[in-house]
Amino acid sequence: MEYSEKVMDHFANPRNVGVIDDANAVGEVGNAKCGDIMKMYMKINDDGIIEDIKFKTFGCGAAVATSSMATELVKGKTIEEALKLTNKAVAEALDGLPPVKMHCSVLAEEAIQAALTDYYTRKGLNPADYIKK
Ligand code: FES
Repeated sequence: MEYSEKVMDHFANPRNVGVIDDANAVGEVGNAKCGDIMKMYMKINDDGIIEDIKFKTFGCGAAVATSSMATELVKGKTIEEALKLTNKAVAEALDGLPPVKMHCSVLAEEAIQAALTDYYTRKGLNPADYIKK
């Protein structure tokens, strides 16, 4: 299977790359098998809206493309909406990924969950009360 145009576009021109210095949610995840790492930074406002999101991914092209698409899908959304984002939805938004590359999209879902876990932890709340996996 070939990569879709959208995957190639998000790989070549990833959106929301970088770091948010005053982020109030930061999550890092990795895949032990391929060694790829993805880090997400979010700025969440008092209404629980993800006002800004940036990422840094040290990984394969599909990991970069899925990070990019995932940030676009949750930017401006509520925490609740972001928690519902699945790796399948990210892959679909990219018009699909080759089966061997689906695990890369899992990193994007996990990175968002990790950042939101950090958000609740920083607030002194138990993330398990909010993030059902
Ligand atoms: Fe590791 Fe894609 S090969 S995330």
